[in-house]
Amino acid sequence: MNILEIIAKKRDEKILTKKEIEFFINGYVDGTIADYQASALVMAIYLNGMTDEELLDLTFCMANSGDVLDLSEFGENVVDKHSTGGVGDKVSIVLLPIIASLGIPVAKMSGRGLGFTGGTIDKLESIPGFNTSVSIPKFKEYVKNIGISIIGQTADLAPADKKLYALRDTISCVDNIPLIASSIMSKKIAAGANKIVLEVTYGKGAFMKSLEGAKLLAEKMEALGKLAGREVKSVFTPMDEPIGYCVGNNLEIIEAINFLNGTVMPEDLKNVVLELGIHIIKLAGKGDNLEQNKLKMIETLNNGLALNKFKQMVKNQGGDTSYIDDITKFEKAKYIVDVKSKQSGEIVEINAEEIGKLACTLGAGRIRKEDTIDMSAGIVLNKKIGQKVEAGDTLATIYTNNAEKAKFAENEILDIYKIQ
Ligand code: URA
Repeated sequence: MNILEIIAKKRDEKILTKKEIEFFINGYVDGTIADYQASALVMAIYLNGMTDEELLDLTFCMANSGDVLDLSEFGENVVDKHSTGGVGDKVSIVLLPIIASLGIPVAKMSGRGLGFTGGTIDKLESIPGFNTSVSIPKFKEYVKNIGISIIGQTADLAPADKKLYALRDTISCVDNIPLIASSIMSKKIAAGANKIVLEVTYGKGAFMKSLEGAKLLAEKMEALGKLAGREVKSVFTPMDEPIGYCVGNNLEIIEAINFLNGTVMPEDLKNVVLELGIHIIKLAGKGDNLEQNKLKMIETLNNGLALNKFKQMVKNQGGDTSYIDDITKFEKAKYIVDVKSKQSGEIVEINAEEIGKLACTLGAGRIRKEDTIDMSAGIVLNKKIGQKVEAGDTLATIYTNNAEKAKFAENEILDIYKIQ
């Protein structure tokens, strides 16, 4: 067997055997299969799809490409949460401290930015000192001591996904059902939680553009979870415009802190957080009544326990908590430019994908695997869909360290905001 035959087989729309899939995954992880060969096969999968059996083999092979965590010491109800990605999606950063403050253990491995969407790990790293590369024993110790830890995918956990995820990001092969389903479920299976809540996003700012596509993706992921003995619940989130107001790494952390301390709680963000949270609480065996679960979440926000849990987590992982007490300490971009509306009317569209791509151009995301992120770059929306504007009102504010990009982004924002 060799990789050229496997690439040619998928290119020619034939079905791969379990052995061929294993050969590819093992060879890519140990370095005997090169990035360019993996790129060709991934593109062939993207174009020609996979049968359910191929998807099952790919997912389990990826899950078993490294360590599989045993979290049984935290009980039977360890819950994990994963989003299929969105723009301005700071849901995990807000939601998980709320969940941990209710006594439900949170052991979460998150990802970095992918395509036009940001990643929780990049965002958390904008808090100076916050360490997301933690060993598994340390990760478990944090969960045992304070009930929460959010870390990046360790090198030893689903390493096949780690490599493929970064590769797909740079070859325009992200928005694809078998590739997303295998990526997410291989990590979730390896990460050890037995209850999984999936936030499946759809719309202009998601990889799945329609609810039908999102439902199909959820169906595949739920089936994979079931075969691995996990209980999986999918929650569907519309994502036409960005969630909340901020897009960009430290801008989103500031928005999350403001949410947790009650200063500003954007309605759409609040709705997603509560919707996911009520199901997590139920799956964790801490309450079957969804309305009651919502009240519990609101209480923990109001009495400061959720914010406190977030601070504990930041401190535990080496982050400087003074930034949480004083958000003005976060690094600011050199150019902060308000974009003024040229017309009056009602905002009817803010394409989240376009905003996400623009934020990447400003420095908030990666174009190449090795790119470093500018933590202070991004866009803050001042107006959202349905709001009225007068000519001269600020639509959005651009944050960048590059004067030319600021000028470019200004025109783009005027184009992205559709006003009628
Ligand atoms: N999130 C993941 O972990 N993988 C994907 O492919 C898409 C979103």
